[in-house]
Amino acid sequence: MPAVAECHSVVEEHYAEILFTRLQAGEVHRLRLRRRARQGASGSAGEEWRELNLRPVLIRGLRHWQFVYAYPQRDQTENLLVEEALLRLQEHLRLPLRSLLWEEASERCVVQFSRKGRPQLRREAHVAPLPPLSLAHDRSPAAPLPAERPDPFLRAIGVMTAEGRIRARQRAKFQQINEFLQQLAHAGAAEIQPSAAGRPLSLIDCGCGSALLSFAALHYLSVKCGRPSQLVGIDQDAGLIEKARQRSEQLQQAGVMREAAAFHAGAIRDFRPEEAPDILLALHACDTATDEAIALGIREGVSLLLVAPCCHQHLQAQLPAVAPFAPLQRHGILQQRLGDLLTDALRALALEIMGYRCSVVQFVGGEHTDRNVMLRARRREREDARVLRRAVDEYGQLTRYWGVKPQIETLLGESFAERLAVAGQRR
Ligand SMILES: C[S@@+](CC[C@H](N)C(=O)[O-])C[C@H]1O[C@@H](n2cnc3c(N)ncnc32)[C@H](O)[C@@H]1O
Repeated sequence: MPAVAECHSVVEEHYAEILFTRLQAGEVHRLRLRRRARQGASGSAGEEWRELNLRPVLIRGLRHWQFVYAYPQRDQTENLLVEEALLRLQEHLRLPLRSLLWEEASERCVVQFSRKGRPQLRREAHVAPLPPLSLAHDRSPAAPLPAERPDPFLRAIGVMTAEGRIRARQRAKFQQINEFLQQLAHAGAAEIQPSAAGRPLSLIDCGCGSALLSFAALHYLSVKCGRPSQLVGIDQDAGLIEKARQRSEQLQQAGVMREAAAFHAGAIRDFRPEEAPDILLALHACDTATDEAIALGIREGVSLLLVAPCCHQHLQAQLPAVAPFAPLQRHGILQQRLGDLLTDALRALALEIMGYRCSVVQFVGGEHTDRNVMLRARRREREDARVLRRAVDEYGQLTRYWGVKPQIETLLGESFAERLAVAGQRR
């Protein structure tokens, strides 16, 4: 057990929401539920499990959660795909529990339930962070495209030599590709079902540039996960679109991709896909191009959005001077970061309001870029009225406090206003 450096305790009604956000973010190393025995149940009566331990595992390249149920006389193990696992866990959280514990790299969270089911959440920081999460289960390599295995995609883009060695000068790119693919795997991209049965998984990359990471995603999903996938890229820079088309042809000729990707030169805002995409990527699309991408994803009902924002100017320009923030606002860099934080927090809330579960995580290591925040959002199967109300309240408070109107609100227009109104009426 790791030592505990500091500990604080709060009554926390939102523990389940916190837990599910952390699970979605791929931050949970393990989870334990202890069940309260039914009154009057004794011996083998009821044959109920007493304790349940969960850990993430990778099985044939797909993320699963391993459930180990401890019954009085035996253990029972089940491996469930992420979506299924989250639904199962939601059911278990409705049972009378004694405690719930989950472990993250930097802290341990413990929820104790009173006899009446009142939760108390305690967060304990580890003195030293836990070692990186290992998903090893069946000898699957941790890196989606491992260095020690010849890979036609890595070869075709010049990262790997013909003999299967990573070129010294390409190590950073190799690492960046793998970190991005880890994000994709953590987000459960390979388990998403296409919106139309029998169709390949459809990816759209907004502000794709030369689309290197999207090609990596396509390769990973199609070849490594066995999920046939197609890609549409949009960028307003016709020169970059031409480069992406050439790269697509080159990858096809090298036998890496079966079908060419489709590319469109133009603004994200004006783009109307022929078919609804399943996964939306927007990696460092400048300023409000990120909002255009999020709005497109929400409008099309995509299952998963992976959005790494870039520069943030739109909200920045609206920020008034606010007295207690003077020490931040007097320094350009801090004022800029304040604008970045507010913009991304409001984007995450807008996604929640529009029916997504959103986590904000580190995109790739800071050595690649200082723009390394990622919004990872999965569409909810079912509406959660409590989350909607909370998100609407928080969004209202933050925008009123700062007197700002984020671009995402403008782009979502009436559909967003309706959601705010619905939550207001249900109060
Ligand atoms: C920093 S680059 C990132 C390119 C690529 N996603 C990557 O990660 O390498 C941002 C790209 O977004 C494109 N872009 C910016 N605003 C756009 C908009 N409103 N519509 C379409 N593309 C846009 C730019 O042309 C540029 O290629």
